[in-house]
Amino acid sequence: MKKAYRKASVGQVSGYTGWLRVNATAYQSATHGGRYVNNYANSQGDYRYKKFEKAGTLPFGSVLAKDSFAVRPDGKLGIGPLFIMEKMKKGFNKGSGDWRYSMVMPNGKVAGMTKGKGMNMKFCAECHAGVAPEQDHILLVPEDYRKKF
Ligand code: HEC
Repeated sequence: MKKAYRKASVGQVSGYTGWLRVNATAYQSATHGGRYVNNYANSQGDYRYKKFEKAGTLPFGSVLAKDSFAVRPDGKLGIGPLFIMEKMKKGFNKGSGDWRYSMVMPNGKVAGMTKGKGMNMKFCAECHAGVAPEQDHILLVPEDYRKKF
């Protein structure tokens, strides 16, 4: 997976597999294409993200990455997209809580970015904005799959 995503050269997520992973095992995410996913947070935001509901507002520079895979009918693994949320400066985009959403496809192409080229990723922002505002647009790993900190 790392190799496929690396082709996109998205600096914000380089080395993400070495970041804090907050889920204990991969879990199926209905909202991300029904794929199995893992959630990681970089060092700017991990100390907050690992508090789950008590995370509060994540600081500028926080990056949350979610890699994904599917098990094909033949039993082989198919790589899915890498879902990314990056906390930008205050005022970047009110509607998304200043998060920039993007998605790296398994072929190493970036599908789009909030306020960037390609798909505008509005559907990501809209669904994520559906949570309580005090949760800063983060939707958190389902309880059963969380790592204990
Ligand atoms: C229909 C709702 C929905 C859509 C659309 C959606 N997400 Fe999510 N997202 C969730 C939910 C629910 C979670 C937490 C549970 C999970 O992982 O399934 C989540 C978790 C995440 C996380 C982990 C951080 C967190 O919130 O805890 C990232 C990163 C993420 N999504 C990125 C994206 C990106 C990028 C897109 C668009 C390409 C997107 N999401 C589209 C509902 C959605």
